[in-house]
Amino acid sequence: MRLTCHKLVVMILLTLVVFTVISGKAKAFHQGGAGECEGCHTMHNSYEGMPVTPTNPVGTAGVFLLKGSDASSVCLSCHQKSGDTSPASFHVSTADTDMPLGSPPRQLTPGGDFGWLKKAYTWIPALGTLPLTSSGDSHGHNIVAQDYGYFADSYKTTSPGGFYPSASMGCTSCHDPHGKYRRLADGSIAAGGTSIKGSGSLASGPDPDTQQSVGVYRLLGGVGYNPKSLGGGFAFSYNPPAAVAPDTYNRSESLTQTRVAYGSGMSDWCRNCHANIHTDALPTPLKHPAGSPNGSLGARIINYYDQYIKDGNLTGMEANAWLSLVPFEAGTSNYATLKSLVAATPTKGPSATDGTPTVMCLTCHRAHASGWDGSMRWNNRTINIVLNGLYTGGQAGQAFQPNAQGRTEQEALRSYYDFPTATFANPQRTLCYKCHLNGSE
Ligand code: HEC
Ligand code: HEC
Ligand code: HEC
Ligand code: HEC
Ligand code: HEC
Ligand code: HEC
Repeated sequence: MRLTCHKLVVMILLTLVVFTVISGKAKAFHQGGAGECEGCHTMHNSYEGMPVTPTNPVGTAGVFLLKGSDASSVCLSCHQKSGDTSPASFHVSTADTDMPLGSPPRQLTPGGDFGWLKKAYTWIPALGTLPLTSSGDSHGHNIVAQDYGYFADSYKTTSPGGFYPSASMGCTSCHDPHGKYRRLADGSIAAGGTSIKGSGSLASGPDPDTQQSVGVYRLLGGVGYNPKSLGGGFAFSYNPPAAVAPDTYNRSESLTQTRVAYGSGMSDWCRNCHANIHTDALPTPLKHPAGSPNGSLGARIINYYDQYIKDGNLTGMEANAWLSLVPFEAGTSNYATLKSLVAATPTKGPSATDGTPTVMCLTCHRAHASGWDGSMRWNNRTINIVLNGLYTGGQAGQAFQPNAQGRTEQEALRSYYDFPTATFANPQRTLCYKCHLNGSE
């Protein structure tokens, strides 16, 4: 392993970062694998006599010689940028100054903006009752990123249905910073083997061949993954899922949708830390099938998903049935199929010709965070998500606000990734109905 800190390398890297920021485009950094060591590490926390990490004095870098107080702060040094006015490529967090009270976070990636963890709401559910709250912590995965004001969950000390410690939760709990995991030509996933030629996440990305592999979906950790800082006992048992994201994945969905072709294995991957969630081990309200084989939609639900446009409108067809607020897995790990879903037929609904369509964890949740409790894609704690033509039901700013529950209309709209309320019926019930005709089917 080469750990030499050469000024030239640092300069090239800084130029790259500056260029990336100026052009607003996602310049490759990780390239599906480890990327430049100096992007995250600093050997002496010194560059031309100035500290690289503001919180540490020159000569003392962070843990593991990191350019931040902790691993996630290093990630956010690139993945959050104050002053972003709109969704910006690979940014997954909004700076505090860019989301004052009443204004939502600005990033719209499939995983979601961690800024929602800093938004808390209070409302009165029914006249004459006590106020309820929706804490920031309940909006997703609480990453510990001290330099950016993110702290461990104060209610959940471990992963529900599992025992992963919340105190150690960060970007590198899920993503391998060194991008070791790769997809080989035969479709298998390994932590070593042929060299990685690029990201394996995107529709236009390269395919593996016998000479070279590609990175796994979103650099996620695979079997055996366990950050060194965490100590033993938490090694992953499942590999990253098969999935393909569009090249432009961080965007408003006010006009067209962002199609991620989820293929297979997402639910098992989440079970690395939530082994017993929504299973018989927990009480019924939290019991829902997810992943293969129990989550298979079956012919009846496939048909229904394809026909359902909104409450009261069942005139949809397979070709335009996709709703990114209620995604499903195509039920295949065939990358040609997944890439063609993203690039050629982005609005295609579940179809038995593509695989075995399946309900999965990300049908209902976002992987990072969302505007709603439980990191849900929609507000599941209300009867109607649209009322009086508004997400807030017209009660925004009032104490009595059962619908959007303390959020402003703008915040609620952003939580729905800018889908206009006209996408839905008025009133519109929760999105469980995209698959279920009523509570019993
Ligand atoms: C995307 C950010 C990132 C990049 C790029 C990166 N590292 Fe790291 N590295 C980390 C983080 C975060 C940790 C702390 C891991 C933990 O919490 O256990 C770490 C830990 C380490 C460690 C000690 C722990 C271990 O896992 O062995 C070594 C050695 C290391 N990195 C070497 C390198 C080298 C060499 C490169 C370039 C090839 C590199 N890193 C590139 C983020 C990065
Ligand atoms: C020096 C800046 C920089 C740092 C530090 C950095 N990233 Fe990135 N990251 C990028 C850029 C640029 C992209 C988009 C282009 C690409 O994929 O290389 C990206 C993309 C990604 C992606 C999507 C990659 C794919 O193949 O789909 C993930 C996941 C990610 N970063 C996670 C992390 C994590 C976790 C850390 C901290 C351990 C981190 N990044 C640190 C610059 C950075
Ligand atoms: C609980 C696990 C988990 C944690 C923690 C996590 N990620 Fe992710 N991340 C994922 C998954 C899963 C996806 C794929 C989401 C999808 O396609 O729906 C993803 C996607 C991404 C992407 C691609 C854009 C997107 O949002 O879809 C980037 C960039 C990224 N993560 C960076 C980060 C950074 C930086 C952190 C820490 C600040 C972080 N992640 C923390 C699991 C995690
Ligand atoms: C590396 C371990 C890890 C992985 C992998 C992981 N989680 Fe978590 N998850 C946690 C921990 C720890 C908590 C409790 C602390 C918190 O909420 O941040 C948690 C909490 C949650 C919550 C409750 C959030 C809230 O605020 O109420 C949901 C929902 C969730 N996870 C869903 C998922 C989904 C879906 C996936 C797969 C995309 C996933 N998790 C993958 C560790 C993990
Ligand atoms: C059909 C929708 C659906 C699916 C599929 C689903 N969940 Fe959930 N999940 C929910 C709802 C609804 C809640 C309660 C959210 C709230 O209001 O806090 C929840 C809550 C959770 C919680 C928090 C539990 C707690 O004690 O607070 C975790 C963790 C979680 N889900 C993880 C997962 C994982 C992992 C998967 C995949 C194996 C998954 N979910 C699949 C709908 C779903
Ligand atoms: C992507 C489609 C999809 C969505 C969205 C969805 N479900 Fe399901 N649901 C299924 C499938 C598939 C099954 C299992 C097969 C069946 O029961 O027909 C199921 C089963 C159920 C069951 C029976 C569970 C059992 O153990 O018998 C209940 C109750 C349920 N869902 C409630 C919900 C609720 C509540 C929501 C919204 C939070 C929801 N579902 C969202 C697809 C979905």
